[in-house]
Amino acid sequence: MIDSSSYLRATADAYDAVAVRYAEFVRAEFDGLPLDRAVLAAFAEYVRAAGAGPVAELGCGPGRVTAHLRDLGLDVFGVDLSPVMIELAREAYPDLRFEVGSMHALDLADERLRGIVSWYSIIHVPPRDVPSYLAEFRRVMAPGGHLLLAFFESEGGPPAAFDHKVTTAHRWPIDDLAGLAGEAGFVEVGRMLREPREGERFRRGHLLMRNGG
Ligand SMILES: C[S@@+](CC[C@H](N)C(=O)[O-])C[C@H]1O[C@@H](n2cnc3c(N)ncnc32)[C@H](O)[C@@H]1O
Repeated sequence: MIDSSSYLRATADAYDAVAVRYAEFVRAEFDGLPLDRAVLAAFAEYVRAAGAGPVAELGCGPGRVTAHLRDLGLDVFGVDLSPVMIELAREAYPDLRFEVGSMHALDLADERLRGIVSWYSIIHVPPRDVPSYLAEFRRVMAPGGHLLLAFFESEGGPPAAFDHKVTTAHRWPIDDLAGLAGEAGFVEVGRMLREPREGERFRRGHLLMRNGG
């Protein structure tokens, strides 16, 4: 049982407050990030190869990653804690479905999804709660479905909070997150580490996992 209500409220409030500026800041971000696009393209290819079915972007913010996944041929929808983010996503991409909700308690039947992307959203979850979130991802994932996690990597240190510009966030050793996802029932397909580009502070971690169940 997760008691993260204060984290959920604080995160939703913080992202509500900056949503318009955040959406503008990230709007064209992928243009200069070929490795990030490559990871998303690989995820989409694995999902398409495993058969048709819905994909969720959990912690979708203003929806630009959801739209990118749609452009890669996926049947995708977005979920986010922040009602303002969801409003912006609906305005920007009226052809896509976006819902307010938390990724720790999804309104989805067991084994409903063929894929899940958490693109810099698991970073805000208190580390002790991350195993419960991964268990929820596993619950809603069809056998053979794929999970993609993007996060700030800790470059040798333990999981640790840092001064994220919006609200508390954590950097993770890639092996630790891969280990927790493994304990939840996911099998690693591959990983990508990207060094920070100009203006970024931390190495970026990407983990592509498959539901082994
Ligand atoms: C750094 S933003 C990333 C947004 C989007 N994935 C992107 O890259 O543009 C993190 C997002 O995760 C959302 N978030 C954090 N915890 C969440 C939770 N438990 N359930 C749903 N969304 C959550 C926040 O509201 C925020 O919009």
